[in-house]
Amino acid sequence: MNTDYTDQNMSLRSLYAEHIASMCARFDEVLEMSGAAHAVIFSGALHYAFLDDHSYPFRPNPHFLAWAPLEKLPLSYIAYTPGERPLLVYHQPRDYWHSVPGEPSGFWPALFDIRIVHTLADTARHLPGARDKCILLGEISDSSMAFGIERINPPTALNFLHLARGRKTEYELACMRLASERAVAGHRAAETAFGNGASEFAIHQAYCKAVSQTDNELPYGNIIALNEHSAILHYTQLDRTAPSAVRSFLIDAGAQVFGYASDITRTYDNGDNEFRALIQRMDAMQQDIVSRVRTGLDYRELHLETHRLLAELLVDAELATGDAETLLATGVTSAFFPHGLGHLLGLQVHDVAGHMQDVSGTIIDPPSGHPHLRLTRVLEENMVVTIEPGLYFIDMLLENLRGSPAEAHVNWQTVAAFRPFGGIRIEDDVRVLADGTENLTRNAFAL
Ligand code: GLY
Ligand code: MN
Ligand code: MN
Repeated sequence: MNTDYTDQNMSLRSLYAEHIASMCARFDEVLEMSGAAHAVIFSGALHYAFLDDHSYPFRPNPHFLAWAPLEKLPLSYIAYTPGERPLLVYHQPRDYWHSVPGEPSGFWPALFDIRIVHTLADTARHLPGARDKCILLGEISDSSMAFGIERINPPTALNFLHLARGRKTEYELACMRLASERAVAGHRAAETAFGNGASEFAIHQAYCKAVSQTDNELPYGNIIALNEHSAILHYTQLDRTAPSAVRSFLIDAGAQVFGYASDITRTYDNGDNEFRALIQRMDAMQQDIVSRVRTGLDYRELHLETHRLLAELLVDAELATGDAETLLATGVTSAFFPHGLGHLLGLQVHDVAGHMQDVSGTIIDPPSGHPHLRLTRVLEENMVVTIEPGLYFIDMLLENLRGSPAEAHVNWQTVAAFRPFGGIRIEDDVRVLADGTENLTRNAFAL
């Protein structure tokens, strides 16, 4: 496996040049529609805890990250003017308390006109002089960071850029393949640790070591859940001791490469045949859903189809009785599967514009009764989406079915038998193609 995530990666060099060319073309359009001459993109500032001198981990502006893999460069600016090489005002403070960004190096600097500055006063001199002809993109919590630019985050520009980010460039796809491979190394280490009886905390440590990322460098907080904890959708507690009886393991964990994320979930049994069979059914169903993905598919339809497939699975597994439409209509499938089928993936784990129909910003609502679906768009070539069906034993939701027409459709004895296992989720990251998919996750596991 290629573990060279430093900037020496030669194969990315030419793809990156093409990526920058498409970024320039994208911003040419943005400036044209905004009636502006320059786009200035702010990387972001550190945020401090209340009454404290410690900051939260830095999260860069994704619009900045889309230009260059500069994940740890606060207070810096990219300025783009059509026809010119993009300008990077690279903030390198004189600071002996903290490590400061090093000299620009790797595959990306050759594409920029770089000005290294040590103070914000220096920055002002490098930004385009005609501030009234600029738009500024970024989180400006202190007006001094705007350097006199008044048009901050114009919605037309943001809508256009957010929509465009749905379709990945070849460079972005290459980064996302690497992010999948990186996470898979962690998933393998985590599976081994689970097999050795490790606690959630120890499994998490094995994961971080294998991907060589700290918590703050991961794209989201790892979900490492043993037994009933798998029924808590975003469980991030990490118990320090292993339970006396280990029955199941759900891990939802990703990695980042050059700012791009992977988002992968696997569920394992610990020798129980019934639970293993249920995982296998879910895995087959998940692959069936992935096989339906292609350009032109309405993701809302795929989500609803997943509920129909899940209804059949619940009946086969003797967890429910009745036909699919009844199990959907009475809310049985939603009690077992209360989240969306998936979302766009990219610089952000839940990437922007999952509900956006067009540049006007019109929103496509999720289907009624499915408020948590994060992606409602028609799929386009080179989008990367997750496919993550789940089946959980969540007391709160199942108990809500009592006293309703759904109650008679649930096999409560089987539910009680599976309850100690928590639940199952299987999540792959797939690239949408004209007539199918590239499964970044399964390809990485197959390496
Ligand atoms: N890891 C969060 C999600 O799967 O959406
Ligand atoms: Mn996900
Ligand atoms: Mn996930």
